[in-house]
Amino acid sequence: MLRPVETYLQTDRVTLRRFGADDADLLIELDSDPAVVRYLSGGAPTAPEVVRERILPSILTGYERWSGAFGVFAAHETDGGAFIGWFCLRPEPGGPLDEVELGYRLRQAAWGNGYATEVSAALLEKAFTGLDVRTVWGATMALNTPSQRVMEKVGMAVVEHLGTPDDMLAVEGAELGGHRYEITREQWEQRRAARP
Ligand SMILES: CC(C)(COP(=O)(O)OP(=O)(O)OC[C@H]1O[C@@H](n2cnc3c(N)ncnc32)[C@H](O)[C@@H]1OP(=O)(O)O)[C@@H](O)C(=O)NCCC(=O)NCCS
Repeated sequence: MLRPVETYLQTDRVTLRRFGADDADLLIELDSDPAVVRYLSGGAPTAPEVVRERILPSILTGYERWSGAFGVFAAHETDGGAFIGWFCLRPEPGGPLDEVELGYRLRQAAWGNGYATEVSAALLEKAFTGLDVRTVWGATMALNTPSQRVMEKVGMAVVEHLGTPDDMLAVEGAELGGHRYEITREQWEQRRAARP
């Protein structure tokens, strides 16, 4: 059931809302699919107690820290309300508020519908027109083509090749590292102005 008061963003097909304290099971189920966490943990599910004791509390704290402007938000199909995963738009811990990370993790059943592209485009618009953001960035493993395609389709470009963090060395393709993508407000505005 969607709680409109907690709605963060709505696109044609997807609604983002704040997670609540009783939403651990949604995150546990999402991270239990090896395909979903393939380029994050190498396919190992996230332990339920880690979700309950660390991940969800940290998401909830984020709403307070950033007064609801940024965070990790649950994604639902607007039509019917099915949970499809999450998107995030958030500064780095202790980092500047005008430089934020775009991220996404969707249930396999929701892949291939253009949802990640649709919501990411709307999040960029919100960031650059409503939240005083200067740069949006995202990081992805070199083998994670779907994630890279999403960022490319919303106008982001590779600015840096990244080494693989120590806790991700078991992930397939770790030897290839990853990419940092970025788009600045100026680039986003130019792209919007150039659109027919
Ligand atoms: C990354 C992810 C969110 C993409 O979600 P999605 O809603 O399926 O993405 P879209 O439908 O908007 O598709 C984006 C592009 O990726 C392409 N794509 C999707 N799956 C693909 C695959 N297996 N191989 C190559 N391209 C793929 C799509 O074709 C589309 O590009 P196109 O329009 O040029 O064809 C989804 O795959 C996911 O949740 N993956 C697991 C979690 C994850 O890896 N998150 C990112 C961590 S950095």
